[in-house]
Amino acid sequence: MALQTETVSPDETGLRKCAEILRDGGLVAMPTETVYGLAADATNDQAVARIFEAKNRPTFNPLIIHLPDAAAVDCWAVLDGAARELAETFWPGPLTLVLPLREGTGLSPLVSAGLPTVAVRVPAHPKARAMLREFGGPVAAPSANPSGRISPTTPAHVLAGLSGKIDAVLDAGSAAVGLESTIIGFDPEPRLLRPGGLAAEEIEAVLGAPITARDQREAINAPGQLASHYAPNAAVRLNVTVPEPHEAYLGFGDQPCTLNLSQSGDLVKAAANLFHHLHQLDGLGQPIAVAPIPNEGLGRAINDRLKRAAAPRER
Ligand code: TXA
Ligand code: MG
Repeated sequence: MALQTETVSPDETGLRKCAEILRDGGLVAMPTETVYGLAADATNDQAVARIFEAKNRPTFNPLIIHLPDAAAVDCWAVLDGAARELAETFWPGPLTLVLPLREGTGLSPLVSAGLPTVAVRVPAHPKARAMLREFGGPVAAPSANPSGRISPTTPAHVLAGLSGKIDAVLDAGSAAVGLESTIIGFDPEPRLLRPGGLAAEEIEAVLGAPITARDQREAINAPGQLASHYAPNAAVRLNVTVPEPHEAYLGFGDQPCTLNLSQSGDLVKAAANLFHHLHQLDGLGQPIAVAPIPNEGLGRAINDRLKRAAAPRER
């Protein structure tokens, strides 16, 4: 269903309106100093699922959470050592830190894509920070463009790609940096996961040591992380219409099953439930059979993730 995408002025009324949309589970394109981000409440599974739907992303890659200041990080992630030093020097600014995720915070598992880490950034744009303060929670925001397209630096770019798919654009003119944030991970040595708006040399100057690059994909797919978080311990069988009696059955649509991704066959709901249900079924200690999921819209990202869950384990 097409939405009427509203362009909102960044005054007090507009900022309050954007925070309200976020609280209601909606999507707001938010200005940052790097590029416009597609913001949703990072604790709302369905809202986060809608980001993937609006962007038409074929995979659930993990998203960056945006916070108004470094003090807000402690509720969601562990910020210490070299990471804290970088945060103190460069936040607010175009730097994203991949940090250990705190357990049981209520952050949607779709944000971290089931990983034990979460990417965190405190943007410098005054309107972004004002909106984040007004909202008062973590905001997940990838760049506000359809998957595979160029990142948007103006509201016009955002609307060209996402008009009718998001609730609002907070209009604060063009983004100053025009390049995504630099991403640093820790394994536990600092690694450059994505070059971006903050030069690696500046980071090296603070750390007092050269920083080596590491492929983002590698960071996300590192075997240790995969084994414990992407994949359930139980064996997983896909596209099952008739489960065996000893199997726990993850259903989709109106059918008898152990847990249902969406009884009404809604792919946004199914995406929102995916990690929660897999986790819960894994706790039953039975092999898991999964109903067929239509391979369209968010169904592609769901199937991509299920395929990984069903793949033979690396030991
Ligand atoms: O400047 C930016 O960073 C913009 C603005 C909107 O803040 N955001 C942005 O988000 O570029 P996105 O989703 O397009 O890129 C986030 C990148 C992804 O490539 C993802 O792989 C990586 O961050 N990432 C997120 N969480 C991660 C994690 N736990 N481990 C490794 N990489 C992660
Ligand atoms: Mg992007």
